[in-house]
Amino acid sequence: MAGLSLQGVKKRFGHTEVITGVDLSIADGEFVVFVGPSGCGKSTLLRMIAGLETVSDGRIEIGGRDVTNADPAKRGIAMVFQTYALYPHMSVAANMGFPLEMAGLPQPEIDAKVAEAAKILHLEPFLKRKPRELSGGQRQRVAIGRAIVRKPDVFLFDEPLSNLDAELRVQMRIEIARLHQQLKSTMIYVTHDQVEAMTLASRIVVLKAGRIEQVGAPLDLYENPDNMFVAGFIGSPRMNFVPVTVVSQGDGFAVVAAAEVGLREVSVAVRGEPPVVGTRGVLGVRPEHFASGGDACFEGTVSVVERLGGLTYVHASLSDKSALTVESRDPRGFDLGTTRRFAFDPRRAFLFDGTGQRL
Ligand SMILES: Nc1ncnc2c1ncn2[C@@H]1O[C@H](COP(=O)(O)OP(=O)(O)OP(=O)(O)O)[C@@H](O)[C@H]1O
Ligand SMILES: [Mg+2]
Repeated sequence: MAGLSLQGVKKRFGHTEVITGVDLSIADGEFVVFVGPSGCGKSTLLRMIAGLETVSDGRIEIGGRDVTNADPAKRGIAMVFQTYALYPHMSVAANMGFPLEMAGLPQPEIDAKVAEAAKILHLEPFLKRKPRELSGGQRQRVAIGRAIVRKPDVFLFDEPLSNLDAELRVQMRIEIARLHQQLKSTMIYVTHDQVEAMTLASRIVVLKAGRIEQVGAPLDLYENPDNMFVAGFIGSPRMNFVPVTVVSQGDGFAVVAAAEVGLREVSVAVRGEPPVVGTRGVLGVRPEHFASGGDACFEGTVSVVERLGGLTYVHASLSDKSALTVESRDPRGFDLGTTRRFAFDPRRAFLFDGTGQRL
């Protein structure tokens, strides 16, 4: 097993710098999830760790060893991709044992390791089948099995579940969590899925345009985002952002208002220096932090109502054109086109300055 460290890691493709300097330490046994918008460099970073992509600048260590220019096979890593890339003509057992065969291990040893991986992944009944005779989830388990047999120090997963349907994703997500508990290996996992990131990660790394925006435990990022980007990216549906003006302030708080959208003076906590009176900022309120009652509210016109059964998402537009998403446990009383108050808990609201930094 091994920890990992990235120091000033950069990647250029031609003249374009797609990773602009990443510093990150990952402890032995951690489960780290990379999230970020499409094209921000998640796969590139993972591929550099794997040695499938050269490093333009900086240093990568695995288990305290400099592997910046090491051969992929010598890094003690195994990578699982979105496409399973199984050999169609080989049985499940042969697919899983293939890396060991390439490494020249004797057959009895290969068989033992494949049997052990098959047990962990509940693949024992399928060992003789061909990949086409498996479901998507079973195929993905074979791909993971092929990684497990090598007993890597570090597992790298690049959106391994995105080809699966919703139900299978949930199952496989639980399997991967169980796998991590069992193997206790270091895992780095790329995903677009909020729930996967929140539930699997010991720490989430939020990337934007080739750099790290924030690193933290899932709930830390949810409760204490450093900026609007992270606040908007972590949490689903995403946080609402409404422009406001600072009308007064004191130690550790600011009073903001936005009369045009029905927001009368409301006091919100700020972490650092309170903002100057008269400046513009942005108030962030998560959809789940609306509740009836209280003075803090926006006035908006109901435009779309999504009733999911247990939860209802009400989409409303404010007179300043801000869009509001409000979560409600009560599906009734949201008539389209009506204007109404949406009260929220100001203790759960965040204030950001004009540049998007959290105040
Ligand atoms: N071989 C390449 N040559 C040139 N540019 C590349 C190459 N590979 C990736 N890029 C660019 O690098 C950037 C990062 O790509 P990357 O695949 O790492 O994104 P990603 O975060 O994994 O996105 P997604 O969520 O869509 O998978 C993108 O702008 C992409 O176009
Ligand atoms: Mg990618």
